[in-house]
Amino acid sequence: MRVLSGIQPTGNLHLGNYLGAIRNWVAMQDSMSGDSRCFFFLADMHSITVHETREQRLANVRDMTAALVACGIDPDRSVLFNQARVPAHAELCWLLCGTARIGWLNRMTQFKDKAGKNREGASVGLYVYPVLQAADVLLYQATHVPVGEDQKQHLELTRDVATKFNTDFGVELFTLPDPIIPKETARIMSLRDGSAKMSKSDPSDMSRINLTDDNDMIAQKVRKAKTDPEPLPSDAAGLAGRPEAINLVGIYATMIGSTPDAVCAQFAGQGFGAFKPALADLLIEKLAPIRQRYTALRADYGALDAILASGAEKASAAAEPTLRGAYEAMGLMR
Ligand code: TYM
Repeated sequence: MRVLSGIQPTGNLHLGNYLGAIRNWVAMQDSMSGDSRCFFFLADMHSITVHETREQRLANVRDMTAALVACGIDPDRSVLFNQARVPAHAELCWLLCGTARIGWLNRMTQFKDKAGKNREGASVGLYVYPVLQAADVLLYQATHVPVGEDQKQHLELTRDVATKFNTDFGVELFTLPDPIIPKETARIMSLRDGSAKMSKSDPSDMSRINLTDDNDMIAQKVRKAKTDPEPLPSDAAGLAGRPEAINLVGIYATMIGSTPDAVCAQFAGQGFGAFKPALADLLIEKLAPIRQRYTALRADYGALDAILASGAEKASAAAEPTLRGAYEAMGLMR
């Protein structure tokens, strides 16, 4: 079993990233035994598809590293690094550009969403983004990739690229990875719109809970979250057709390690006037310790850089045999 996943270091880590992916990373790390290691990385090479200044990008990588460590990623047990320090990602991406098909990339919903109406004006990087993601995963022979629902299509493309490369060159070089998507938290939705996912790129900061938000901000965002006037039903089936209510109940259930049915039973007949303060208190209680660790860690950029440099050394060594195999399979001399 080889676990790998990545996150773009753009903006803040939010509750969607945390519940949809990072909590699962930590659980998988903690279940590893013996010499097995998980690989987690900051997808800074992917972040070139978003315009940022040099200073912002440098700060974002370090801040996101602090956030991951604050959430429980242990750089002594997992390999934690930033992609730009491991050139094998960019190299394999280029080799896989010979394998990935334009028709496959044209079907990627994330590209369509991010490019919007102005496709001609989107960067080539945004279009090729899924090929770099395939390289990230295939370089390490990852078997399990813990992600949120929105990354499922990219993982399917990764499997297609791996299969075609292996077939075209008559090798068994790449392992086909399986996405690991937690059922309850696969898609945490925006606090302002139950039909849109919680996202770093939403222009409204009120749509998401950032792991850096202080207690007052968390309480305010929960208070202002969009809901409906109905009371909570006695079981989760009664939430049908109420996307905002489903989202808030789901967040509450996940945070206490329970189920939406149990949460509905607990609050049955009560309105959001009672439920929202309980949710805000719960989020504050669970997120405050992470925020405190984060604040302490980001005070020492030197220590964070050392973690990333050491992780990159281990990652480069782990990636090398696969990269060499890809060059050899294609008849390219290095
Ligand atoms: P990114 O940075 O957008 O998100 C990081 C992780 O958080 C999950 N996520 C969510 N889960 C549930 N509900 C939400 N509202 C929500 N928002 C985000 C994402 O699914 C993801 O798991 N392309 C990737 C980064 C990447 C990667 C990789 C991931 C690059 N290479 C290789 C896995 C393997 C991305 O932009 O994630």
